[in-house]
Amino acid sequence: MKHLIDIESLTTDEINQICAKALDFEKGIRKTNHQNANVINMFFENSTRTRLSFEMAENKINCNKFNFSIDTSSINKGEDIFDTINNLSAIGMNAIVMRHWDNDLIKELSKKRYFQEISFVNAGSGTSAHPTQALLDYYTIKKHFLDVSKKTITIVGDIAHSRVAKSDIALLKKFNMRIKCLAPEYFAGEKIEGVEYYTDLKEAFSDTDIIMALRIQKERIQEHIDFDDYIKNYQITKENLPYAAFLMHPGPINKNIELREDVLETQNARTILNQAKNGVYIRMAVLDTVLISQGL
Ligand code: CP
Repeated sequence: MKHLIDIESLTTDEINQICAKALDFEKGIRKTNHQNANVINMFFENSTRTRLSFEMAENKINCNKFNFSIDTSSINKGEDIFDTINNLSAIGMNAIVMRHWDNDLIKELSKKRYFQEISFVNAGSGTSAHPTQALLDYYTIKKHFLDVSKKTITIVGDIAHSRVAKSDIALLKKFNMRIKCLAPEYFAGEKIEGVEYYTDLKEAFSDTDIIMALRIQKERIQEHIDFDDYIKNYQITKENLPYAAFLMHPGPINKNIELREDVLETQNARTILNQAKNGVYIRMAVLDTVLISQGL
């Protein structure tokens, strides 16, 4: 695996190998030293969890870590992204962790030739893909449920604008999970084959093992949305949350919009910070894999 661009390009074996490696890193039974590798983080959109857990992962695998500042870079003098990366490659960067608002840019960049070989790792591309989030979500689910193929997940909220939902669905479908999406029409997005769509919360929650709440992405919404109507019909509360459901959220959370704040005090919600923790091990495993592909 030279690049990680999307989940669709991974086989189930590759996904399981990344998770197995992440588990070894988590247990401390696998150590690695990439002291000859140079990894640069380029974040064109805001991030807390993804950026900092990549940085933590880079420290833990002992590579040389660099952070690209868009504001102080020559991109602000008009240099285009290809020339920027070609120069980073010439300087000696071996891998780029990139978050960008464009859905397809990282895929296009990964197909080009540079001064030296360079790997791309997608840290979130527009509304299209967030593969490391999907891997950490699967890793979190797999650690809790032994046989995921017999489990049902309900993804709730702004599915239309969510790269997390798209990557999660692509991954969980590969492992034959039953996938439900619960959203009003304006948040349902393009229907995906093999996914069940619901508009009624009670009906969707009547038979589910996992609930994945999504953030309402106000910054990507152009049309008028009636948030009071959304809250009334779709907000997750202590009252409507099934007793035994495993509650997940990729973060950041809009408290009292997609879920009522007191839900975060429940046992069900303990998973959410474990998702953030597991992100470090998954990102260690992904970086280790792409750097090994370059012999580093
Ligand atoms: N889940 C996620 O991508 O969070 P950040 O935007 O904080 O990285």
